[in-house]
Amino acid sequence: MKCLRASVLLAAILATPALAQEGKPDPAKGRAIATGVCVACHGVDGNSPITANPVLAGQHSEYIVKQLRNYKSGDRQNPIMNGMAASLSEQDMQDVAAYYASQKAHQGTARDAGVARAGQQLYRGGNADNGTAACAGCHSPSGAGIPAQYPRLKGQHADYTIAQLKAFRAGERTNDDSAMMRSIAARMSDAEIAAVAEYVQGLQ
Ligand code: HEC
Ligand code: HEC
Repeated sequence: MKCLRASVLLAAILATPALAQEGKPDPAKGRAIATGVCVACHGVDGNSPITANPVLAGQHSEYIVKQLRNYKSGDRQNPIMNGMAASLSEQDMQDVAAYYASQKAHQGTARDAGVARAGQQLYRGGNADNGTAACAGCHSPSGAGIPAQYPRLKGQHADYTIAQLKAFRAGERTNDDSAMMRSIAARMSDAEIAAVAEYVQGLQ
């Protein structure tokens, strides 16, 4: 009897569209947030026109949600984004992340081929002399990242990537679980940071 009642209840829940939909990311609602609030800095589709503002188009939704949660909780510090995330609900975060993840990132180009070549070597092979791990191991050889743990880097503005690597190195950005990025950036010189950022911007 008990068992029958439980299965009837379960069938009723599964048949209720409202319940089945709850919590599901809605990119259309996300678009409304993105074009209403975030557009000034991240562009209509997440291709941020200003190089200090990260490209969000094509980024993994799980990574975007994690960053927004971290800004809201204060685990990632940035005066602008702490304010922006404060007003977003968990559902808003899921929606806006689904929207940006579904957008196509514009193709970036490296400004200096020589610098990018040095960056490519570091990206693919790391630096045995100072123990820097190869970025490709986690962010994938193409820079597409690996959902849900490792963010996409390809096409990202070099200026933004440089700022993040320096923030990890200085211990100002501390929301990387297990301090993965802090321990990697700690070994990198300014020249290595600039080179790898240049290479990543031009990755296609
Ligand atoms: C006034 C400009 C501005 C507005 C408006 C803005 N952002 Fe940002 N956003 C930034 C800047 C600058 C950063 C980089 C901050 C840092 O260094 O941590 C950023 C970072 C982010 C990141 C982290 C990306 C990454 O690769 O780690 C996400 C996600 C994000 N913004 C989403 C949003 C969303 C969603 C909205 C709208 C609700 C929004 N932003 C509105 C300027 C802005
Ligand atoms: C052991 C795995 C691992 C390796 C190797 C690694 N990363 Fe990361 N990286 C991560 C993780 C995990 C994150 C996300 C941290 C978070 O949740 O905020 C990250 C984040 C980043 C970010 C921030 C992205 C953004 O949108 O804000 C940059 C930039 C970055 N890594 C660059 C590099 C570079 C350059 C290298 C090689 C020198 C490298 N990473 C090597 C794991 C790794």
